Amino acid sequence: MFFCFVLAAQLCFAQKFYSIESEPGENCSNEIRISWATDTTTADSWVVYSKVSDRDWRGSSSIAAQESYRCDSYNGIWSDNEKGEPFYENVIFTKCGTSLTGLKPDTEYKYYITDGTDRSSEHRFKTAGAKEWSACIISDFHSYPPLASRLDHAMNMVNTVKFYDPSVSWILSPGDVVAYGGSYSFWKRLFEENNFSRFMWARVNGNHDNWTKRTVMDKSFEMPNRFFMGTSYVPRNGYGPEVGRSYWFRYGDAMFVMMNTEAMHFEEGFIPAKEWLEKVVTEARAGKDAPRYVVVCMHYEWFVGTSGKTSQYGRWHEVFDKLGVDLAVAGNNHVYVRTHPLYGDQVTDGSKGTVYVVTSSSDNGRGRKFQDAPMLNPDKIVFRWTEGSHTVSAIHMNVNRKRIKLTLLDREGNVVDACEVPSKKR
Ligand SMILES: [Fe+2]
Repeated sequence: MFFCFVLAAQLCFAQKFYSIESEPGENCSNEIRISWATDTTTADSWVVYSKVSDRDWRGSSSIAAQESYRCDSYNGIWSDNEKGEPFYENVIFTKCGTSLTGLKPDTEYKYYITDGTDRSSEHRFKTAGAKEWSACIISDFHSYPPLASRLDHAMNMVNTVKFYDPSVSWILSPGDVVAYGGSYSFWKRLFEENNFSRFMWARVNGNHDNWTKRTVMDKSFEMPNRFFMGTSYVPRNGYGPEVGRSYWFRYGDAMFVMMNTEAMHFEEGFIPAKEWLEKVVTEARAGKDAPRYVVVCMHYEWFVGTSGKTSQYGRWHEVFDKLGVDLAVAGNNHVYVRTHPLYGDQVTDGSKGTVYVVTSSSDNGRGRKFQDAPMLNPDKIVFRWTEGSHTVSAIHMNVNRKRIKLTLLDREGNVVDACEVPSKKR
């Protein structure tokens, strides 16, 4: 009886604080940011955190929400419930975010959200600072509650990567984590997953994350990018209207620049994005603690995996050459693609140039077959991979001073592809 009461109370707590996610701070060695939501009836909420080694929380600290506003971005949006029945989501909540600073490098932390009366379940993250570290790269699982297996496949894939390397400490995602970003119930369900409790996630905005069920049916894709903001609290070091959507952060020796491709469909959006990328990478390269590696991550693919056709590579490769971008990560096409290192539109020996990688889908439902024609750009593309519509994979990323090593794993944990991106820093 007592047990039932406790269980019921915990479920009640889980409802009060939700959509909890840890995200990168500008320097992940000492800053991690937390995004969460709570009901509008909750007057105030904050984060309590401590090192995992602090068993009784005696050394814990509290930090207030830096961002707290009434969010109605998802209210009244046409959606689907878990049975696949159409409905309008009535959802207004208080969106919160804060930044934990002064953290110890290479340390595991735990935290919860509270209003002084109730508290959320415990969540964790690990700060950067280890000389060698690993992450999981996964995208395009289009979480859609009426087809719950999509999320199951993706989360099982994360578990597979964690089994392959238990030191994996965070997730890099080139986007499309939900089917319709305007459906708040999809996000809420997503963040209930254990892999959002135990890992920091660095996401970019994918087209699905930016859409609603209505935009897909009407093909009216010109939407404001408000859904990413309502589910995240990334560093505010972006540019103009993309502050809070495009951002950069350091994880150890690597600088990650995370870009919102939804803002770059046209030249007037591409130019400020390019100028911002040039500015932040050039400043970092000239700074005191210059990054060993620069990684650019965005949603739309560099090359179309089904055909090998040039896509975003065409508009970015000269910029990446100029900035010495080591690795470019994208998703969207649902077929895995990896190129040779490329510089000046030519294959190099790896001493300079960028390796372009496109993730596959990971939901076992939205993969694609290769086109029945010779692959385009065979000189540039080393390897591509798909399982057809039922595709699931993720990339294990391991980084040390000598190289970035990428290993493509299938759902069974089999190595499908591997490559190394050597450090160009002496
Ligand atoms: Fe996708």
